[in-house]
Amino acid sequence: MNNFQFHNPTRIVFGEGTTSRLGELTAAYGKSILLVYGGGSIKATGLYDLVISQLSEIGATVHELAGIEPNPRLTTVNKGIELCRTHGIEFVIAVGGGSVIDAAKAIAAGALYEGDVWDFFTGKATIKKALPLGTVLTLAATGSEMNGNTVISHWDAKLKRGAGSPLLNPAFSILDPSLTYTVPRNHTVYGSVDIMSHVFEQYFSLTENTPLQERFCESILQTVIENVEPALADPNDKAARANLMWCGTMALNGGQISLGMVNDWASHGIEHEVSAIYDIPHGAGLAIIFPNWMRYVYKERPDRFAQYATRVWGIDATGKTEDELALAGIQATRDFFTRIGAESRLADFGIGEEQLDRMAEEAVRYRAIGSFKVLEKNDVREILRLSL
Ligand code: NZQ
Ligand code: ZN
Repeated sequence: MNNFQFHNPTRIVFGEGTTSRLGELTAAYGKSILLVYGGGSIKATGLYDLVISQLSEIGATVHELAGIEPNPRLTTVNKGIELCRTHGIEFVIAVGGGSVIDAAKAIAAGALYEGDVWDFFTGKATIKKALPLGTVLTLAATGSEMNGNTVISHWDAKLKRGAGSPLLNPAFSILDPSLTYTVPRNHTVYGSVDIMSHVFEQYFSLTENTPLQERFCESILQTVIENVEPALADPNDKAARANLMWCGTMALNGGQISLGMVNDWASHGIEHEVSAIYDIPHGAGLAIIFPNWMRYVYKERPDRFAQYATRVWGIDATGKTEDELALAGIQATRDFFTRIGAESRLADFGIGEEQLDRMAEEAVRYRAIGSFKVLEKNDVREILRLSL
């Protein structure tokens, strides 16, 4: 285990009915609000009215930025920055999934930066100030509600990049599982794959002596596996939705489950290149790429993959070599993703080999990626080719 420090400043307010605390939680941060939301789900579900009524009760002036795209775009972020500057916004509220929260974070940072907000995503500038923000989460997936990351697409350049700062951790996040009852089947699947993938990025690590962290990871994976199908069978399953939501937050909240471990994140890097060009849902891309990454790298540390197979999937080790166990665990992952309805090939989205080179090159633009196995361009290309 390596040395570490941990501080997560986000206040989590979890549970059914907690959406009604938005007004009270917001009041401490100012009266001039930018409300950021997506393509209309919050209006269809009635959540919008609940938000607006509470904000008017505390006497807030609310400006709105609607229409944040899944895989949120820089052009839309820039509209939000403009609104902040024009109206002297003091607090940003994101109501939605990871895309809405990420856009709100980029707006919060960009509003107080004189240059181009994209500078934060290319590494040209670091975030030194940001407006405070709060979130009402409507989809269990990214963990953005309790971390300082934001991922934005530069659609014209076909680039998707991340930026991060503790300054972007939401001041508070309301996690009301009942808001996720309306999440469509496919996004319930993709969100769950994303949660599991966040754990994989941390669990498949070369760092030694991390038994507690490994068990944190395994427990989240098992809890997701146990709860996805109940949530798909009955979208209003209160317990399943609550468990998925809490798993999503714990899986990526500043690295709490993997403190002292070196993380990988190569599969995320590769997926971001796919969704940058093809605009597919992030979780869908991960369901395709992750099992192929696993097959490509497992020999670096077959014992960790064997442990994964036995502890997470309950695969019987009797008579199996470490490699056989490792491969059985990987196959169980693939089979599970397929069983819950995730795509297994890039071809399922009409993606062929035309852009493989470009995606591989962009994935390693700044440096080789991954740590479990360090991947150069040719490795990334091969993982993408296996994913066709
Ligand atoms: O736009 P609306 O109308 O709200 O519809 C959304 C959207 O179409 C819908 N939805 C969300 N909550 C709903 C709902 N529909 C009905 N009822 C509800 N309660 O779901 C669709 C997908 O939403 P989106 O926010 O795009 O999904 P997700 O939360 O998976 O976010 C994906 C984005 O987050 C980034 C991804 O790359 C992608 O851009 N990530 C962010 C991370 C972070 N900040 O830490 C880490 C992740 O690895 C990831 O890269
Ligand atoms: Zn992810």
